[in-house]
Amino acid sequence: MPAPRHILGISAYYHDSAAVLLRDGWIAGAAQEERFSRRKNDERFPARAVEFCLSRGGIQASALDAVVFYDKPVTKFARVLETYLAVAPSGWRTFPKVLPAWLGEKLNLPRTIHEELPGLRPDCPVWFTQHHRAHAASAFYPSPFACAAILTVDGVGEYATTTVGEGEGDRIRLRQEIRFPHSLGLLYSAFTAYCGFRVNSGEYKLMGLAPYGTPRFEKVIRDHLIDLRSDGSFWLDLRYLISCAGSV
Ligand SMILES: [Fe+2]
Repeated sequence: MPAPRHILGISAYYHDSAAVLLRDGWIAGAAQEERFSRRKNDERFPARAVEFCLSRGGIQASALDAVVFYDKPVTKFARVLETYLAVAPSGWRTFPKVLPAWLGEKLNLPRTIHEELPGLRPDCPVWFTQHHRAHAASAFYPSPFACAAILTVDGVGEYATTTVGEGEGDRIRLRQEIRFPHSLGLLYSAFTAYCGFRVNSGEYKLMGLAPYGTPRFEKVIRDHLIDLRSDGSFWLDLRYLISCAGSV
């Protein structure tokens, strides 16, 4: 009988870093770093979450067959640069704060991951999945369905903000996408900021508060902010929404 195949999934350096361990495709352990560090929305490398997952799987890092990161940083960095160029010079305040992290750990992730996990075999591969494929996989593979339509609606991944596709067996095909900056997630984050909450954190508070309100701004939003098309796609009126403050 062949030895089980262990794959470690990691998300980090954006918000709410986390880890998951798969053994032969089944989840052996999964955790968010903030549960251990007690720092809300902790975005640092999820060292303690990884440790937890490995202990749940009863293995050491040296037994890992691969590590998978949750998006493609180089593609994402290209989109970040394009965004800053498109809105220049208005991003000049935030760009110097964003750049060091990219030139440090984010663009050198295979090296960063091997440094953070010294027990990894030197030849252990580090793979990068597309952000929305990771979302689709996290919904479809643990589901009870052998085949299903898949819809992912997010802030932004590399370029995609929304995708539609299908899953069948162990295959996922994302067939169409809506691209940044047209994003329902970023629209939601814009309202989160407008209401005085922190982006990438206060969205959950806004969601919790929503049932207590009445949709009295619905018509204004539909008339001015978002164009909903008959095919299900949408476009945002960017004159109201362009910002480099925290969404990249
Ligand atoms: Fe996402």
